[in-house]
Amino acid sequence: MEIEEQAALTSGADFWHTTAVPGVPAIMVSDGPHGVRKQVFGEGHGLLDSEPSTCFPPAVALGSTWDADLARRVGEALAAECLAKDVAVLLGPGINLKRAPLGGRNFEYFSEDPILTGVLATEWVAGLQSRGVGASLKHFAINSQETDRMRVSADVDERTLREMYLRAFQRVVERARPWTVMCSYNRINGVYASQHQWLLTEVLRGEWGYEGVLVSDWGAVVDRVEAVRAGLDLTMPGPDDAGDRALAAAVHDGTLPAPALSTAAGRVEALVRKALAAARPGATFDAAEHHALAREVASRGIVLLRNEGGLLPLAPGEAAIAVLGEPARSPRYQGGGSSLINPTRLDNALDAITALAGAPVHFAPGYDDVDAAVALARAASVAIVFAGTEEETEGSDRTGLELPARHLELIERVAAANPRTVVVLSNGAVVRTAPWDAAVPALVEGWLLGQAGGAALADVLFGVVNPSGRLTETIPQRLEDHPAYLDFPGEQGHVRYGEGVHVGYRGFDARDQDVAYPFGFGLSYTTFAYSGLAVSTVDGALEVRLTVANTGDRDGREVVQVYTSLGASRVRRAARELKAFASVPVAAGAAAEVVLRVELADLAYWDVEVGRWVVEAGEYTIAAGSSSRDLRLSATVAVDGDDERRVLTAESTIAEWFADPRGAAALGEAFAAMAAGGGDTMAQGMADPAMFTLMASMPLARVAAFAGDAFGPDTMAALLKAAN
Ligand code: BGC
Repeated sequence: MEIEEQAALTSGADFWHTTAVPGVPAIMVSDGPHGVRKQVFGEGHGLLDSEPSTCFPPAVALGSTWDADLARRVGEALAAECLAKDVAVLLGPGINLKRAPLGGRNFEYFSEDPILTGVLATEWVAGLQSRGVGASLKHFAINSQETDRMRVSADVDERTLREMYLRAFQRVVERARPWTVMCSYNRINGVYASQHQWLLTEVLRGEWGYEGVLVSDWGAVVDRVEAVRAGLDLTMPGPDDAGDRALAAAVHDGTLPAPALSTAAGRVEALVRKALAAARPGATFDAAEHHALAREVASRGIVLLRNEGGLLPLAPGEAAIAVLGEPARSPRYQGGGSSLINPTRLDNALDAITALAGAPVHFAPGYDDVDAAVALARAASVAIVFAGTEEETEGSDRTGLELPARHLELIERVAAANPRTVVVLSNGAVVRTAPWDAAVPALVEGWLLGQAGGAALADVLFGVVNPSGRLTETIPQRLEDHPAYLDFPGEQGHVRYGEGVHVGYRGFDARDQDVAYPFGFGLSYTTFAYSGLAVSTVDGALEVRLTVANTGDRDGREVVQVYTSLGASRVRRAARELKAFASVPVAAGAAAEVVLRVELADLAYWDVEVGRWVVEAGEYTIAAGSSSRDLRLSATVAVDGDDERRVLTAESTIAEWFADPRGAAALGEAFAAMAAGGGDTMAQGMADPAMFTLMASMPLARVAAFAGDAFGPDTMAALLKAAN
């Protein structure tokens, strides 16, 4: 292939197509992630100009199911819609961590936890790609805010980056092999993601073995030559004739090695061939079936936060139901921006409630009409208030955690008028629920639920579905409590990831802070009892077994969660970390045996001294329960670990030498010899505990400064030999 053709292949032809060159046709890509936003006209047209497709629940709700099988089924269904629309790659899933509750795209992301995110996204990608449609894992990496997203430098230490922000990417790349990975807009420690050689080439390709196409986020590339040099394959959107020419010129004049360009072009070509081989011209999809799946997922993603006195589910026989708040009639079911789907149909909760109620239903839109709503509430046997955020969108972060004032007023006045008040929330990320939730007996977190969310809400309100959704992010008492509060969204071009590995619940737990609703929390209409925890080591993993019994009188699902901790660790660790989970159906009165696997590799921390993952040896606590703060059973297990002995150097401290058996023996002997030689006060002094404490942090090489000739280069050389 000519250099010019290679260059052309590495940029788009337009907004949604790759460039065709002789022998290599073009393919189409589309957003993503929770539906197929195939644009009818292409560039320059509004977000709404897309072909209708099923608007599945955005990741905020899919994530709240904690159900990997559901994620896979959604992936498969999305693939069917892509094939029917001749879309080769769907631009998702979005797997950035919900670092801060105000993140404008949190609704597109799964969780504040990397394992939960990684497990769900792996299945989503596997489902999609099993049907011959490529995924685009995005946004790589550390793109957890919208403020200044195209320039801001996410300043982060390597351990935090590896353990928190890259961990889910690594998992999905290694296990599901996405056809494409999309780099983010932002800088990472000063370098644009699209030009980040270490991130794109050393880590993603070198360490994780990624062989697919690296595509830019739309408009992320600043310098085509530097991007290709760093390992980027495809710049979107296009056309970018000037960039193509610059690339070809750089190869001709030798500033860019020819293989850098030919490799990138080769990867794009391979993607095109794979996609064309999987294409199914004339394929169709069953919109009704997909709507039913969207409803199932939505009902499973709803989180019941509060249910005092068992107000829910509503039983037949209510005298009259007041439904209050515009979202009951005009649902907020997805967020704004590139993920906006034009749905095939749209359910609303008001109709669905009316259909299930068996009682008169009276509606008032509420917020501008609070008196009328209160009057209806007073006359009804139960009042259901719909409230939530009014806008969440790509491109900007939220400015606060509070519900809009007029929603709060509606909630407060209705709750005062009718003691049987249920609040249903629609929001893409957590809102503050304290202190008003204390005044409402039932609180249903309805997120953004996709096109079938209205019906799903009615299913949960009336007990057609027993809720089993769980929080994938902590609901704080106040924004100020949040671990990211002081360092979000940064200023003057930088955002410091100052809370380090203590993202989300890890930060709240480290400070033992009260929260409104903890990570992993969600109620059911039944109750579950845990028993019989047994943990054993099986090839490369811990096998965690336990029994969950449904002790209530309704069939339900329990989301069993396994958290691990290691008390004595070389590094500062979170008090507990999610490592495994399962959504388990259990019939009323029945019990289920649950077997979960915790990979030993998932116990590892990133060690910056040795530059690799380390599983520390030690007694790990394995706790299982219903939320991060409702752990019912725990056991300890000894893990051998894979930590090699650390080499002692002249820069290792006296304490480090004495912590190592060989080092302690050698240094002890050397000090004893020095002391016996007489006169070396330092060696003599080391026998004194106070003196030892004073000296312990001194690198051995500095001892010479105090001990002089008694501790010369020969002594040091002999010590290093003896210890290592
Ligand atoms: C978004 C991506 C999206 C792309 C194409 C970008 O602005 O960040 O998530 O896939 O546009 O619409």
